[in-house]
Amino acid sequence: MENRKLVFANWKMNLDIKSSLRLINDIQKANLFFNNLDIVIAPPGVYLYEISKFLEGSHIQLSSQNVFYENNGPYTGEISPQMLKDVGCKWVMIGHSERRQHILETNEMINKKILLSCNNDLNIICCVGESYEERRQGKTFNKIGDQLKRALRDVSANFLNQIVIGYEPVWVIGSGKAAEISDINEVHDFIFDQLKLMYPDSKILPRIVYGGSVNNANISSIMTLNNVDGVLVGNASLDCDKFCDIVLKVGNSND
Ligand code: PGA
Repeated sequence: MENRKLVFANWKMNLDIKSSLRLINDIQKANLFFNNLDIVIAPPGVYLYEISKFLEGSHIQLSSQNVFYENNGPYTGEISPQMLKDVGCKWVMIGHSERRQHILETNEMINKKILLSCNNDLNIICCVGESYEERRQGKTFNKIGDQLKRALRDVSANFLNQIVIGYEPVWVIGSGKAAEISDINEVHDFIFDQLKLMYPDSKILPRIVYGGSVNNANISSIMTLNNVDGVLVGNASLDCDKFCDIVLKVGNSND
């Protein structure tokens, strides 16, 4: 079966509740519906409940930008998978490079978050990617191979249909210029091969999406690539016209 495509909007720590609801409303008015495409929005955590009420009955799905790796207990400030489900989340984002960098999230924490989220029936987008220095030193594949293995340690093949891998070259994020198409192609093929090696008997493998300065000008060429199942969009997802244009182009892409 051909993979479903995905457009995932990562709003990061942007917008207030009024502008969040306005943006969602505008996106809904554009009436973008494709049978084979998931549209997911990850707003700031404090707005999840209100946005999920607003989205009731919509095909647009809701994601948290983070989750904790325990079900409950003395973890001040943290939110469990069940709590996220209670406020309407179907998805969680795990291991974004900004969290790895600023919050010092480790591969071990990321792995524990993935395991618990799998068991709680959440869909997961797990981000991997190399720094500029690592690419310059020819360490891209080592880095991404290592991140993948550690993130998916002990994750059973039964859960792979709930998991998406987001490839995001760290220095490209927010730069306004996506990675070279040939580099995206090479890394996505590598991730696909690694996943096949890790799960040789599985018919289903995680989808692989690209993130890093995706916009409505570069999206069409990104979607021509073989092992690209969709995109993870930051900046451009805060602009209704740009975001809807990206959704349209992904929805209409053939691959
Ligand atoms: P960007 O962000 O599209 O603004 O580069 C992508 C991301 O960090 O997920």
